[in-house]
Amino acid sequence: MIKTVEWTKDGVRMLDQRLLPSEEIYLTLRSYDEVAEAIKKLVVRGAPAIGVSAAMGIALGANQSVGTSIADLQDDFDYICKVMGATRPTAVNLFWAIERMRKTFEDAKSLEDVEQVKKVLTDEALAIFNEDITANRALGAFGAELIPDNATVLTHCNAGALATAGDYGTALGVIRGAIDAGKRVAVIADETRPVLQGSRLTAWELAKDNIPVTVITDNMAGHVMKTQKIDAVVVGADRIAANGDTANKIGTYMVAVLAKEHRIPFYVAAPMSTIDLAIGSGDDITIEERESTEVTHIKDHQLAPEGTNVHNPAFDVTPNQLIAAIITDRGVARAPFEKSLKELSEQR
Ligand code: MRU
Repeated sequence: MIKTVEWTKDGVRMLDQRLLPSEEIYLTLRSYDEVAEAIKKLVVRGAPAIGVSAAMGIALGANQSVGTSIADLQDDFDYICKVMGATRPTAVNLFWAIERMRKTFEDAKSLEDVEQVKKVLTDEALAIFNEDITANRALGAFGAELIPDNATVLTHCNAGALATAGDYGTALGVIRGAIDAGKRVAVIADETRPVLQGSRLTAWELAKDNIPVTVITDNMAGHVMKTQKIDAVVVGADRIAANGDTANKIGTYMVAVLAKEHRIPFYVAAPMSTIDLAIGSGDDITIEERESTEVTHIKDHQLAPEGTNVHNPAFDVTPNQLIAAIITDRGVARAPFEKSLKELSEQR
């Protein structure tokens, strides 16, 4: 199993995704600000993995607090949550995980013992980690039913083990679920400019599992859909609004429009922690703008002329009418999404 992020006695251990596929290096982050920096710099990325890492970073920071009273610990804890919340704006899993840690702190205060509160926070971060793996197994099983045997599935970015707590992933969880159900599935992975999560990460983790994968550049997707049998598009999500509008890696919207034109079902796979019922539509989703060098350079090699203007939005929003279904760990939601997502959120 790919160990994307792990809690260890020395700190939070992460596979450095910036170096994949050429180097497989694990970093041990020994303080909450090192974890925050790792999230910002894409050592760890993917909405669920960001949420899990933030929860672990908060637990790590709380454990290292030298405060002797609950009030001191609260001050440190609030500051750590603020730092964590300022890392990346789009993936709601980050804010969902921070909120869960806050609530846990609130409930644990009554213990009136700093060490016990720290222990409860650590347990909560580990629970978030374990629940993510369970959720992705569940959505993988639901999604598997939508994938025919002998299917070719196109995906964008990396929504696999590397983007989650590990193991199955979300979009790749659906593919793994279908394969585990005995179906044959081949994957077309968009390379996903500018950070190349498709060619670097999706191709790497699928090859490790011997799942057939073909990488294409993003501008080949239309041609491939027109000339080959593509049975489904499955992508992950960074934030899904109450009406089903979905923020995901830049380029997803373009793929969804192409899928519609070619009558290919376009599925979004995400755990319930990615659904943000507090926002009505995708218009309310903040889109992260990242450094221009991601576009002008590949690693240290400069491609565009010095001083070129660059626009580098890291995500786009796919409107709900282009989405055939949203596959969650509680079941498959279909239009009208306001109703189906609300019903799933009220389950249990
Ligand atoms: O910038 P990234 O690499 O964090 O973006 C990741 C994506 O857009 C993923 O598709 C999304 O987070 C879903 S991951 C299960």
